[in-house]
Amino acid sequence: MARLDVAETFYNIKFPGHMHTQDSLNYAANFKFQDTDTVIVTYPKSGTTWMQEIIIMVLNKGDPTIACSQPNWLRAPWLEQYFFCQLLQASTGPRIITTHLPYHILAPALRDSKAKVVYVARNPKDVAVSYYHFHKMANFLPDPGTFSEFLSDFLEGTVHYGSWFDHVKGWTDHAQNFQKFLYITYEEMCQDLYGSLEKVSRFLQCTLTEEELKISQKHCSFNSMEENIMVNYTLIPQEIMDHSKGKFMRKGKIGDWKNMFTEEQSDVFDAVYSAQMADSSQLFKLEYFESTPKPMITISTPASSSLRNDSTQ
Ligand code: A3P
Repeated sequence: MARLDVAETFYNIKFPGHMHTQDSLNYAANFKFQDTDTVIVTYPKSGTTWMQEIIIMVLNKGDPTIACSQPNWLRAPWLEQYFFCQLLQASTGPRIITTHLPYHILAPALRDSKAKVVYVARNPKDVAVSYYHFHKMANFLPDPGTFSEFLSDFLEGTVHYGSWFDHVKGWTDHAQNFQKFLYITYEEMCQDLYGSLEKVSRFLQCTLTEEELKISQKHCSFNSMEENIMVNYTLIPQEIMDHSKGKFMRKGKIGDWKNMFTEEQSDVFDAVYSAQMADSSQLFKLEYFESTPKPMITISTPASSSLRNDSTQ
């Protein structure tokens, strides 16, 4: 199935037709989760692949065998993609499921399950830059045009996978609806990878020794993942992802937006951000993504879950 130029529209959101069909999207929206499932939820370019790697290392207690021998899309398949079912059946061990679906589409299926949900968010300015570069190499995404054109589509929420604002607000505003919900940011993972691994291991109730955490930290570093063909997407044929036009593991930095945005673009972005996020919590002031280590992380308990600012603790 090529369908590289096809967009599949579902709930008014465009998805790449190369990996999605109406059937696969409907299947995802009605999926029967198991209580033992771990579900990674992200808006694209927020650190999805990184979290897949962190979780596989945690669940395997620092043993990199699976991480170095199976592509990430096999060991943590995307729920909404048409080959999901087949991949899930072939997978062994605890199920790790990845999704970019927004809350309003997935909530009915997921809300009442005891599956563990890990939500990763990233500074949307860096997301926009990363996503723009990804459009240039991923032939299943449309030509992004100039950065300025792409940015206005991003702010309007008309890019593939929909609006960043709706995604983040939808999932985090409803964190309390889930029995087990972990909110973590890309920025925290960058600033404290060891601590992030510990946090994920506590959440998954899978304790790692210091040695296992250190091995995992090294394995999940940008430099290691950049070299690992199981996660750097170089196994994907060139006609689908053209690595001569850019790398999937591109820069892996906080604040790269400053190299791309003009002052005017940044001001427009800030204004849209303030309007869109006006009713959301302190956690989502844009500066929050840009500050030095500030582990403002969601914690969940089996009984209830809530978003709270842990920086005061
Ligand atoms: P950049 O394009 O800014 O480099 P996703 O997996 O959600 O598509 O996100 C991809 C982004 O995460 C890319 O960002 C990629 O470089 C970054 N990334 C992946 N693994 C990383 C790691 N170990 N450390 C830092 N950034 C990482």
